[in-house]
Amino acid sequence: MSYEKLKDYLTYHGQEHLIKYWLDISDNEREQLAGEIRKLDLGEMNEIFRRSMESTQLILEKQDNDLKPIPQTHYESVSSLSQSKFEEYERIGFEEISKGNVGVLLLAGGQATRLGFGHPKGMYDVGLPSHKSLFQIQAERICRLHRMSEEKTGKYGKITWYIMTSEHTMGPTVRFFKDHSYFGLNEDDIVFFEQGTLPCFDFDGKIILDEKYHLSSAPDGNGGLYRALKSQGILDDIKRRGVEHLHAHSVDNILIKVADPVFIGYCKSKNADCAAKVVQKSSPSEPVGVVCRVNGHYKVVEYSELTDEAAERKNPDGRLTFSAGNICNHYFSADFLNKISDFEKKLKLHLAKKKIPFVDSLGIKQKPTLPNGIKIEKFIFDVFEFAENFICLEVDRDVEFSALKNSDEAKKDCPSTAREDVLRLHRKYIRQAGGIIADDIELEISPLLSYGGEDLKELVENEVFAISPFHLKSMHETTNGYKNGNH
Ligand code: UD1
Repeated sequence: MSYEKLKDYLTYHGQEHLIKYWLDISDNEREQLAGEIRKLDLGEMNEIFRRSMESTQLILEKQDNDLKPIPQTHYESVSSLSQSKFEEYERIGFEEISKGNVGVLLLAGGQATRLGFGHPKGMYDVGLPSHKSLFQIQAERICRLHRMSEEKTGKYGKITWYIMTSEHTMGPTVRFFKDHSYFGLNEDDIVFFEQGTLPCFDFDGKIILDEKYHLSSAPDGNGGLYRALKSQGILDDIKRRGVEHLHAHSVDNILIKVADPVFIGYCKSKNADCAAKVVQKSSPSEPVGVVCRVNGHYKVVEYSELTDEAAERKNPDGRLTFSAGNICNHYFSADFLNKISDFEKKLKLHLAKKKIPFVDSLGIKQKPTLPNGIKIEKFIFDVFEFAENFICLEVDRDVEFSALKNSDEAKKDCPSTAREDVLRLHRKYIRQAGGIIADDIELEISPLLSYGGEDLKELVENEVFAISPFHLKSMHETTNGYKNGNH
């Protein structure tokens, strides 16, 4: 595109300020800037800005009038399942794993700003006795499921692990896995892909220049998953491998039951196309979104969108009416994922006011102290309303949810709470298996040994655990998985 054409294109879309410094920059920089502009469909970007402003107006109107909880027919709770139902779901899940029908979609494109960690969050070590990172813990849970599926079905399982990164996390994430020999998993069964970005805008809809020759942009939110699945060829890969069930979850839940066979089995047996694991909200004021129905459509309604009355409303049994707390833990059938491109452009846009570095009118880079622009994100759960058979599975928070969001100063959802939550759960597993352990003993069970507390009896029954800290692991375990490979 010639300079004239570029200028006409920008002027037509009201973004001509982007080449304001054209005369100040080098040929290479001009090429970079023109390349970045060419990659954007400016008509679409202006439309995205307009829609995001519009949806913010709509959110400001509280949604209580149309709000309903998830109907009982679409909701089950693990703690209320009979043993036989639990085992039935688990059996179905393991059969799907052993057939290679299960994949995991790990959302690892976030920038971990709240945690203040300069690397991808999955690389974080919360200080467990083993010092395993979140990535390693998740990888080893997958390894363990492969083995369990063989024990249960006679066929060694295969779970494909799709890892969504962003421009900031792709390089370091891939390097980390390589440096750790893929934690004992088959390299071919791990597929890294990169989510897209959206430009950052000022409040008038002008795209912000980060440098004279570079546009300001940010990852397009975890709902950017859907566009990336298509544009990066992941939907084709899912089809080629015959994966039918996808478990999608955030990178930061240290207790995540990756590819949980019970969840997969539940979704398969109910013929669900989309589902969410939820935990009961701990109090009306807990700032988590709730999964509910608005105007007959399944949605996650953010805490800020609920009135106090709705947040505090209780059922006759004393439970909060809107208690299904969203934990970024979802199921999608491959068929459903394939249909999303039909409505991807209609997904809600969420806007956040941010302090965005910019080049000022004198061409000098500035770091603002007050919000000067917006970042736009799509959210993974905004597809729920398009599902034909959406269901929920309530799980126990102490077994399945402890998120790493903040640094330790916050004292909440931080490295020390994540670490404590793992150690507390693992002491519980030891006691359930007949071992003896005091509350002050720090014991961690390797995921290669036990996925959810199973198979420990022979090892720990009547044993007293008094050494602290202690990492209970298989004698074949090395720092990167099993000694002889795990696949
Ligand atoms: C998320 C949920 C929230 C839930 C909470 C529980 C969404 C939009 N919100 O909030 O309802 O109560 O988890 O812990 O799901 N990510 C990307 N790319 C991005 C942005 C984020 O891959 O562009 C990933 C993050 O790496 C993380 C996950 O998405 O693994 C969740 O994102 P985060 O921004 O941490 O969401 P929360 O605000 O914690």
